Amino acid sequence: MRASISPASSVFRFLRAISSRKTGLIAFVIGLLAISTAMAGQWLPLGKDGVHDPRSPAVKQLQQPRDALSKLTPDTPGNQVRWVQALEKGEITPREKLYPQTEVRKLDRDIILDVNGGMPAVRFPHRQHTEWLDCKNCHDGIFKMRTGETKISMFLILQGEQCGVCHGAVAFPLTECMRCHSISKQPGRKPEMPAAINPQMHQPTGTGQ
Ligand code: HEC
Ligand code: HEC
Ligand code: HEC
Repeated sequence: MRASISPASSVFRFLRAISSRKTGLIAFVIGLLAISTAMAGQWLPLGKDGVHDPRSPAVKQLQQPRDALSKLTPDTPGNQVRWVQALEKGEITPREKLYPQTEVRKLDRDIILDVNGGMPAVRFPHRQHTEWLDCKNCHDGIFKMRTGETKISMFLILQGEQCGVCHGAVAFPLTECMRCHSISKQPGRKPEMPAAINPQMHQPTGTGQ
């Protein structure tokens, strides 16, 4: 057994494994890569995004994506904003709730999902999710509230289930393998949280800066 497995080679082996077993998925993965590459590098003006009616006078009243998004902490994939950092640095201050009676629930707990095979383990951070989302978005629909009760698989994620309900749709895309698979594994040992967390990947929990 090798002591360390390079991310690129495990990506390759993963793609090769699924291409022999699940033929449709490989095309899907390539499609995903193509979409995220196409989205990177530009913010389309509202009149050209295929969503807003370019003839509507309202389009001129609205703020253009470039004006709003170019001021926030940049990212390379998706819509090119590092949203978790934009929130933590106070660049954006979204309203927490519409109704005064709504209880805002947050949880600061990381969960390590150990992955079978060569990929690094997955760190699921509750805090960074519950800054935006209520528990109901995930519990008990997509995920059970007990570690290990939900059978999570990359195949289902790539099909838009589990983490893929949001990642690749409204949150950073699935092409960013290492943002989820961020905990390297030592042979024969359970993966654990590294003492120093790479700030490019994650803010250490609880600092709230
Ligand atoms: C974005 C999705 C998401 C949101 C939002 C979310 N969770 Fe979770 N939660 C998970 C996942 C994924 C797991 C791990 C499930 C597994 O291993 O099967 C988990 C596990 C848990 C567990 C079990 C942990 C353990 O150590 O056994 C608890 C308790 C929990 N969540 C509570 C909450 C609460 C309370 C909230 C709201 C404040 C919340 N979660 C919001 C995704 C979410
Ligand atoms: C209900 C929606 C939803 C689900 C389900 C979900 N996420 Fe997220 N996730 C988000 C949002 C929103 C963000 C913040 C925006 C962004 O980073 O693109 C985020 C951010 C993250 C981050 C970045 C944290 C940081 O510090 O930058 C990681 C890692 C992550 N998610 C992992 C996962 C994993 C693993 C799963 C499945 C176990 C999952 N997420 C399921 C919505 C979701
Ligand atoms: C949004 C978070 C997220 C991203 C991005 C992500 N994964 Fe995963 N991946 C997971 C989770 C969660 C699991 C299941 C962990 C477990 O076994 O409990 C998983 C499992 C896996 C597995 C184990 C086998 C299986 O089918 O479940 C492989 C291999 C894998 N991922 C490869 C990749 C590759 C390659 C990429 C990039 C193209 C990627 N992952 C991107 C969250 C993610």
